[in-house]
Amino acid sequence: MKNSVSTFLSAKKQGNKLSMLTAYDYSMAKLIDDSGINGILVGDSLGMVCLGYKDTLSVTMEDMIHHTKAVTRGTQNALVVADMPFMSYQTSVYDAVKNAGRLVQEAGAQAIKLEGGATVCEQVAAIVKAQIPVMGHIGLTPQSVNMFGGFKVQGKGEIAAKQIIEDAKKLEAAGVFAIVLEGIPYKLAELITKSVSVPTIGIGAGPSCDGQILVYQDMVDIYPGKKPKFVKTYANVGEIMTGAFKAYIEEIEHGTFPAKEHCFEIDDEVLNKLY
Ligand code: KIV
Repeated sequence: MKNSVSTFLSAKKQGNKLSMLTAYDYSMAKLIDDSGINGILVGDSLGMVCLGYKDTLSVTMEDMIHHTKAVTRGTQNALVVADMPFMSYQTSVYDAVKNAGRLVQEAGAQAIKLEGGATVCEQVAAIVKAQIPVMGHIGLTPQSVNMFGGFKVQGKGEIAAKQIIEDAKKLEAAGVFAIVLEGIPYKLAELITKSVSVPTIGIGAGPSCDGQILVYQDMVDIYPGKKPKFVKTYANVGEIMTGAFKAYIEEIEHGTFPAKEHCFEIDDEVLNKLY
């Protein structure tokens, strides 16, 4: 069944949990979509897990459009949400609407996600007015890594926690259809989830959120970097792949690959004429 913004909103009303994963290319989008996920996020995390940067700040609109196009080609049923990269919406409301429009028009995304609370509500409202659904993202917002002084859990103190609650309410009022809560205490996430009418999608925000999202490389263990505490490994795909790569190299060295079944024939009559 095709997922849409309405699917997300009615899931919250009916108390059904929402599932999301990231994807950045055609093959993976197809595998994830076929497994019955509600939403696929083309996250700017692609800067780290696909492009090898130390954070998400170098990701460009062109990177996002390129990867979102591949994902939308591989997706039939999941709602495809594309991240707005650093500096594609912070600069002005005009830039925000223009760049959100490119992710929909050129790349085929059905919704966009941007980071921040009260400070980006003007942009959110303008993008929604342009008929583009917006997913909010608050808490540990990776594009603010330099302001936070690292990837640190947010909202532990009273003032910070109150600010995140306020941000969630303001995003809701600005028109978001869902809010990602990242890297905050699970009891704060529970409070926010109860305070807003749109679904919360947690990553490092505990079980009370209306849905969950993970970076797929983390949950199948194919990203060599350090894994955050909130990640659960569902399969050691990295180990399986390394095993396959080693077996391939060994078989080449021993001459057992390619075997007869991997080869193409030529008629002897033709062959004889070649000598
Ligand atoms: O970029 C990303 O992958 C994200 C998720 C982790 C929420 O923003």
